[in-house]
Amino acid sequence: MQNYNLAILRGDGIGSEIISEAIKVLDAVSVLSNYEINYNEHCIGGSAVDNYGEPLPRETIDGVLQNDAILMGAIGGPKWEKLEKAKRPESGLLKLREILGAYINIRPVKVFDALIDASPLKKEIITGVDMVIVRELTGGIYFGQPREKTVDKAYNTMVYTREEIKRIAIAGFELARNRNKKICSVDKANVLEVSELWREVVEEVANNYEDVSLSHMYVDNAAMQLVRDPKSFDVILTSNLFGDILSDEAGMVSGSIGLLPSSSRGDGIGLYEPIHGSAPDIADQGIANPIATILSAAMLLKESFKRDDCSKKIISAVSKTLEEGYRTKDIAMFNAKEVVSTEEMGSIIAGHISE
Ligand code: IPM
Ligand code: MN
Repeated sequence: MQNYNLAILRGDGIGSEIISEAIKVLDAVSVLSNYEINYNEHCIGGSAVDNYGEPLPRETIDGVLQNDAILMGAIGGPKWEKLEKAKRPESGLLKLREILGAYINIRPVKVFDALIDASPLKKEIITGVDMVIVRELTGGIYFGQPREKTVDKAYNTMVYTREEIKRIAIAGFELARNRNKKICSVDKANVLEVSELWREVVEEVANNYEDVSLSHMYVDNAAMQLVRDPKSFDVILTSNLFGDILSDEAGMVSGSIGLLPSSSRGDGIGLYEPIHGSAPDIADQGIANPIATILSAAMLLKESFKRDDCSKKIISAVSKTLEEGYRTKDIAMFNAKEVVSTEEMGSIIAGHISE
């Protein structure tokens, strides 16, 4: 019997509730398969600040690195917003991504047929949307030096090296080659030098992928096209900040940001987390949507444990549950048969796996 070690980082806000449901679903899949998952919990974000005085304690770093992958809930909340930057929950997550060398952030955006009406966009616009945002995750303005804030002036640096652009471009082209062979690189090359280099390097990489068609788009236009005609995208390749912004926008294409999973990979083990935040306003009410985290667990099974069969089981269980009309509150306005709690949603999905 194969054994996997999985680090669990619940984080803050709704993090703990949604992680419990993902574990429920992972357990339902593993009893049907010839492997076992050992869960090892560690602290990150605001809860780590409260318990250890920092958002990514040494114990957590050493602890997670002993595992085959990491599943995370979400971090952050008003309680920690006023702390100095290094102590804020977000710094813990950014540091973790950096330590893992997780420069490839994959954010698939697929519209479930049952939820076509849940998007604020028209049915005709979103039917059949199936794209992936490939976001560079350990560089750009998030990490660029120098950076400083004084009383009268503050600045950040958007910087990319040729090597950083090349490796994320290769990841994007490889993915596109295995999909619909279309990649759109998003930048702001009409204004930014860093984008000029981005474009140049992406074009060089494209020479090795003649089967993939490449286009370039300025980020402002991309933001518009994403709601005007999201079906026109297959793979979007972009930098850290632009990818952050466009993926929240893409969340509304799918109906709710509570539906979108992500994987972050690079040189080390993979980190899987929903793209949404910790939603402190709805924490502990049992109304959060666990689907983005459950789908992140599905990505984990496929990418880190190479169990595509199990991953597919989760995705079909989620589809089935939505087709039956079960909805958490965020997606309940449209064709809901029954509005269910976070826990019920997890149990129904897990139940479909065991059938
Ligand atoms: C995300 C989040 C993070 C980011 C925050 C929490 C640091 O918004 O994963 O999209 O900006 O990358
Ligand atoms: Mn974000």
